[in-house]
Amino acid sequence: MRKEFEKGFLTPQPVFIVATYDEKGNVDAMNAAWCGQVGLNQLSISLSPHTTTENLKNQKAFTVSFATKPQIEACDYVGIVSLSKVKNKMEKSGFTVTKSGKVNAPIIDQLPVAIECKVLSITEEYGETRVVGEIVGMSADESVLTNGKVDLDKLQPVMFDSSILCYREIGANVGGAWNVGKKLM
Ligand SMILES: Cc1cc2nc3c(=O)[nH]c(=O)nc-3n(C[C@H](O)[C@H](O)[C@H](O)COP(=O)(O)O)c2cc1C
Repeated sequence: MRKEFEKGFLTPQPVFIVATYDEKGNVDAMNAAWCGQVGLNQLSISLSPHTTTENLKNQKAFTVSFATKPQIEACDYVGIVSLSKVKNKMEKSGFTVTKSGKVNAPIIDQLPVAIECKVLSITEEYGETRVVGEIVGMSADESVLTNGKVDLDKLQPVMFDSSILCYREIGANVGGAWNVGKKLM
């Protein structure tokens, strides 16, 4: 027997912390799980009306950092509180930032991997704002690298489980991509 659902969902989803400046240079960050990579050099985010959404329209630049287990409380906090209501949101989150050298957007110091993006397009479709960003840079703290590559065991990124609304750890490496299936050839 299979249970039928009225609405479908994809899970797990990535958890990105989108960081932006407003027109006065104030920093904001929000949690975005409705976000994904498109091709090699772009990513797309589905947005409701938020301070971040306005910032993206105005600044045309943003960073996304992978949410991590060590920073799980701050990552969730920026997803439940708006800068429009809590003026010291960033201070309360405990996140500090350094300006990206590539785009006019902040990088969150406490999150070791950040992707820097320029806004390519913003469209209002199906009741949402869809932002496509061009990935123009990425940086990772050396503490999460092994042989020069991002090591997820060290980074400890979290995924969003949209079935029961929680964050989950990533598990073990269970097989090489474009590789383990060769056994069936
Ligand atoms: C797990 C999680 C995922 C979220 N994903 C999104 C998302 O993909 N798009 C969106 O518009 N809002 C998303 N939100 C809501 C925003 O992060 C939240 O409304 C935030 O407070 C907006 O902050 P701001 O108004 O300061 O920009 C998510 C929240 C959580 C907790």
